[in-house]
Amino acid sequence: MVTAVAQRLASQRKEIDDTLATFTLSTTQLQEVKAKMRVELERGLKKDTHPTASVKMLPTYVYRTPDGTERGKYLALDLGGTNFRVLVVKIRTGMRNSVRMYNKIYAIPLEIMQGTGEELFDHIVQCISDFLDYMGMKNTRLPLGFTFSFPCNQTGIDKGDLVSWTKGFKATDCEGYDVVDMLREAIKRRNEFDLDIVAIVNDTVGTMMTCAYEDPKCQIGLIAGTGSNVCYMEEMKNIELVEGDEGQMCVNTEWGGFGENDNIEDIRTRYDREVDGGSLNPGKQRFEKMTSGMYLGEIVRQILIDLTKRGLLFRGRITERLKTKGIFETKFLSQIESDRLALLQVRSILQSLGLDSTCDDSIIVKEVCGAVSRRAAQLCGAGMAAIVDKIRENRGLDHLEITVGVDGTLYKLHPHFSTILKDTVRELAPNCKVDFILSEDGSGKGAALITAVIDKYLYAMRF
Ligand code: GLC
Repeated sequence: MVTAVAQRLASQRKEIDDTLATFTLSTTQLQEVKAKMRVELERGLKKDTHPTASVKMLPTYVYRTPDGTERGKYLALDLGGTNFRVLVVKIRTGMRNSVRMYNKIYAIPLEIMQGTGEELFDHIVQCISDFLDYMGMKNTRLPLGFTFSFPCNQTGIDKGDLVSWTKGFKATDCEGYDVVDMLREAIKRRNEFDLDIVAIVNDTVGTMMTCAYEDPKCQIGLIAGTGSNVCYMEEMKNIELVEGDEGQMCVNTEWGGFGENDNIEDIRTRYDREVDGGSLNPGKQRFEKMTSGMYLGEIVRQILIDLTKRGLLFRGRITERLKTKGIFETKFLSQIESDRLALLQVRSILQSLGLDSTCDDSIIVKEVCGAVSRRAAQLCGAGMAAIVDKIRENRGLDHLEITVGVDGTLYKLHPHFSTILKDTVRELAPNCKVDFILSEDGSGKGAALITAVIDKYLYAMRF
């Protein structure tokens, strides 16, 4: 009797281990990911391969990072993360670190995120109007920087056609249209105030600029949050989509699209496919779906459903709660994986999510979360290794020292993500010394800084 039970437990344990093993990546596999990412970075930059490249390498028309002499008062908008924000940013000259901000956060209801484009932009303008009233600024026409955290085909700093929505957005009649035009039209429709829209900025670029304001070695921006993406300073001569060979320009890689050409199918699991199939954009953003906060909880949920169906978890009972999309937000994964937490506390977190677990269940859930987030951090590390080695080679260096500015809830809240990411970069790019600094409010501040850099440039042109 005892041996029968022991045997059953051992075979159940093996089933769980085998499932989680599909999330383990060897160093060789990670090196392969790095090499494939490098190929896609090159393909995105070259004119003839760009149309079919999975990593789009979008020009941003940001030619330089701030040098600390920027000043002025700016409006900034931030759309694409967890919330929509409107900000006033005051930058004083002469001393770094002298940025003051006032902001208000507005929720974007799901029906607006996924309604029509006109409704979305009308809602944004309504929020701006509320903010200007609140600040008593309706009649001051400030230059505005718009952080819009989606892929845009830019032809100038203030022109960008939305390539496609990513993450949770899916408003109609926007893809292929200029985002700045859509905002200007919504402002006109409201006919209440005027704004001077100077720049459209990806959140990675805002993050890089904010960190570069503090540390001139910062030439890469990373977001590991709801979405996953990187930008960096590339040599103009390598950016074939833009005329000119002199100097550098920041490129928004949109690395979340990596894998869309089936080149990482060997490391995708059935759970990844399940999550992809149930998403708003099946087949798209495959790398993002393995590495970002919006999807990691969903992968965990798919594994838990499968283990439960196989009788290995939750006494084999699939509850309505477990069938609910989006129950595992990044903050829960972070809590569950915290080392300081006793199993009993894991159990109470699961309970608060409506999942009735035994102590054994809690151990398994924690292992599942660990396997999924570890792979995510390693994949980001492999991608980052490809970027830093490319920059090193661009500059003909044997050794590169560089700083990455980072933002995003996954990086900031998760107890292990940042450590595993850094370890992976160190292992896969041994000729680079890569420092990571946290950006404080990169999206908002960054848009203002870019606007300030342009303002300064325009001012210089006038004299
Ligand atoms: C998605 C967007 C990208 C953004 C990232 C992080 O990947 O496509 O533009 O930078 O999320 O917010």
